[in-house]
Order: sequence, then structure tokens, then C-alpha cells
Amino acid sequence: MAAIAAAKVQEVREITRIERIGTHSHIRGLGLDDTVQPRHVSQGMVGQLKARRALGILLEMIKIGKIAGRGVLLAGPPGTGKTAIAMGLAQTLGQDTPFTSMAASEIFSLEMSKTESLTQALRKSIGVRIKEETEIIEGEVVEIQVDRPATGSGVKVGKLTLKTTEMETIYDLGNKMIDSLIKEKVQAGDVITIDKATGKINRLGRSFTRARDYDATGSQTRFVQCPEGELQKRKEVVHTVSLHEIDVINSRTHGFLALFSGDTGEIKPEVREQINGKVAEWREEGKAEIIPGVLFIDEVHMLDIDCFSYLNCALENEMAPIVIMASNRRDTQVRGTTYKSPHGIPFDFLDRMIIVHTSQYSDKDLKEILKIRCEEEDCEMSDDALIVLTRIARETSLRYAIQLITLSSLVCRKRKGTEVSVPDVRKVYDRFLDEKRSTQFLDEYQDSFMFNQPAAAVAATEQEMECS
Ligand SMILES: Nc1ncnc2c1ncn2[C@@H]1O[C@H](COP(=O)(O)OP(=O)(O)O)[C@@H](O)[C@H]1O
Ligand SMILES: [Mg+2]
Repeated sequence: MAAIAAAKVQEVREITRIERIGTHSHIRGLGLDDTVQPRHVSQGMVGQLKARRALGILLEMIKIGKIAGRGVLLAGPPGTGKTAIAMGLAQTLGQDTPFTSMAASEIFSLEMSKTESLTQALRKSIGVRIKEETEIIEGEVVEIQVDRPATGSGVKVGKLTLKTTEMETIYDLGNKMIDSLIKEKVQAGDVITIDKATGKINRLGRSFTRARDYDATGSQTRFVQCPEGELQKRKEVVHTVSLHEIDVINSRTHGFLALFSGDTGEIKPEVREQINGKVAEWREEGKAEIIPGVLFIDEVHMLDIDCFSYLNCALENEMAPIVIMASNRRDTQVRGTTYKSPHGIPFDFLDRMIIVHTSQYSDKDLKEILKIRCEEEDCEMSDDALIVLTRIARETSLRYAIQLITLSSLVCRKRKGTEVSVPDVRKVYDRFLDEKRSTQFLDEYQDSFMFNQPAAAVAATEQEMECS
């Protein structure tokens, strides 16, 4: 029975894995070796060595936790792996360092002001590692004795006998403890821990001395040693939460459920001030540690002048994360002004940042990336077809070529083939246009479209409107 259930669970997992193929799902890290040098192909990452090396150094600095409040700009043409590199960094950082990713346009919302959503993003990227010492009772259950009242309902009382290799003690049980013992299905021979503060019971497994009663246990049972020493122990528990999570839990208007619904609304500055004070107190007492994480803002030219000036100040705060931004624009208007600036970022803000460039890929790298994507999308492709696809990637764009992988594998499946061949790729290339060919098509057939106005006429109308 248990075995059948386990098999079912595995099936479900496999289905979810297939569904999780996303644009960057092949990336599992920055692909660096122990000396922080990038390997040419590793962890799903290919080439772009300079940028990966730069982020590797940054990663080491983040890990030490010494730097905060820095800005890094990833600048390069579209499709050169800016987002991919940031995702790689996130994966390499590990569980404990917070990483928040957002697109700059996310800050424009009717429910929240721009600065509020930036503040939330900044605070999501700062972790607080809280150390707590709890007292627990850990032992092997010798006997549970529950006295039920004769009436059937009412208060239950009982006794629990626990032992370690050195001692044995009898504890009185209240109603609540009895209920949780029943809920956890604790029986004699189990090794359990009881949190003294919360009364939470945790079943660690069955004691080895009971291994002989194997018949009575399922195949999933875990056997553990009977604990040694005293029954009562002190245990240090470490949690890492983000400042934003603490904010939401403490903001009375929303409550912690807002963390799951994402509907956090605006959080009052007083709440944040109080929390900053409390966290500072914990830090002084040695109970908590601040972990500056990473905030990644993609398409950063979408931020406007208000946001940049807010970030200017926010980065100077001692509890600021490292902000990594990405942009594919050259000189463009800074939103909210009539001035142009490189990457659409005002000069004073650019001055705070270190800039990392990503450059166009060589054919060899393009082929390697496409090969990795074929594996990720479970598509067998012949070498010739891969060469054709690489050429398509060079002449159109890497993204377009990646799109063609699954499409051509569908064509291949339709003709009941096992491997995508050159004609399959050619077929989808003819059927689905890239940006260049689509523009060409529009130019050729512009007369048949609605609201068609030649480019020269549009410019003339605009000029007229400006003059009037
Ligand atoms: N160096 C690389 N290694 C592996 N995959 C890459 C690399 N560069 C880009 N890609 C993949 O190519 C696609 C486009 O890259 P992306 O990071 O979205 O470009 P950008 O953000 O610079 O416009 C994505 O699917 C990405 O995962
Ligand atoms: Mg991108």
C-alpha cells in the first residue's frame, strides 16, 4: 500500500519537472571553479566569460557579507544573457542569502506608490538570521498511559515515560499534549522531541532496539539510536527571514496571510521604524545578524526619475542590499524627464554603479547554448540541423532560434521521426517569421492593413502637432 503511494508521488513529481521548463531553467549556477574562474561550459552557462568572472567576484564579496549598498549594471544587447547571468548568480548564492528579482515596470501599480514597492523589494532582499535557543526534551518513549474519563468526554489526563541511555523519567500529560501525541501517532518505541516552549512534538523515528518488531512497521520506517545523556537539552535553532516578511507579519492591517496572497498593500513607516529598532537591538545582543542579499531589477530603463532619486538615498542606508540592474538600451530618455542619458539612467545614479558588459556570442557559443536548450526541451537534433539553427541564431536572434527548437521537434514528431533534421527546421523557419522578415512583410503589404500611414506622413503629422 505504502509502496503504491510512493510510486504515485514520484509520478506527480516527474510531471511537475516537465512543466517547469522555462526560459532560464537550464541555468543552474554561474559555472565557476574554486578559484572563481568561469569554466567555458558549466552549469548550463556558456561563454560570456568576462561578465561571469565579474559577477563571480561580486558573489564572493556578497558571501562574506561585507559589502552592501552597491549598484551593478549589466549592459549589453538583447539576448546576450543578462537575465541568464543574474539567474545564475541567484542559484549560486544558496538558500540563505535572499535574492529578489523584479522587472522595473512592476513598480507601476494603482494599489501602491512607486517608492513603496521599491522599499518592499529592497527589504525583501535583506535577510535577518535569527538565533534562538530552545529547550527540548528528547527521548525514547517507554510507555504512554492515558486515562479517559468514564463519561467518554471531558478532560483526559495521562503519563508519558521517556528514557535515554542513561535515565528515565515520567512526565504528566495534559489534554493538549495527549491530543498531539495521538495526532503524531506516537507509540512506545518511538524517539521523539518535545519543544518545551510550544509543546510541539516531533517524531524522529523508531528506536533501533525495536527493530525486531519489524512486522508491525512499514517499509518507510526510519530507525534511530536511543538518545544519550540528559533528557532535557538546549538546542540552537537558526531561522532566516527577510525584513519584508517581518514587516508584513507585524503590520496589523494585513497579517501574515498576506505573505501568501501577495496582497500586502502599503506598510506604514512607523511599523518599519519599530522593526528596524528591534532588529538593531537583536544585533547588539548577538541574537540576530543582517545578511545583505541581492535585488535584481531587469529592464531598468523603465524606472523613472523619482525612482532613481529614491534609490540614490536608499543605497546609502546601512541596511541596503546589492542592487543589480540590467538594461539593453543605449542612449534613451530618462522616464519623467526630457533628458537623454546612457541606458536611460541619470548620470548621478550611473556614477554610483560599476558596469559589466555582455557582448554578442560567437557561433561556437551559440551552438553550445542551443545544444543545452535541446537537452532541456528533450529534443533530439541532428548535427546538421543544429548547424542550421546556429546560423539562424546569428542572422536573426538567439531567442528566435530557441523558440524554433520545440516547434521543429513537433514537426519531427508529426512525421514520426526520432531526430530533428534540417527540413524540419526549414519548415518551421518558413512558417514562423522572425522580427526582420515580419517587418519586411508589413512593408510589402502595407496597403492592405488598416490605419496604414507611410512613415514620412507620421513624422509630418507629429511635427505639425508640435508646432500648433
Ligand atoms: N551564456 C549563456 N549560457 C546559457 N544560456 C544563455 C546564455 N546567454 C543567454 N542564454 C539564454 O538565451 C536566452 C536569452 O538570454 P537572456 O538572458 O534572456 O538575454 P537578455 O536578458 O540579455 O536580453 C535565454 O533563454 C537565456 O537563458
Ligand atoms: Mg533580459
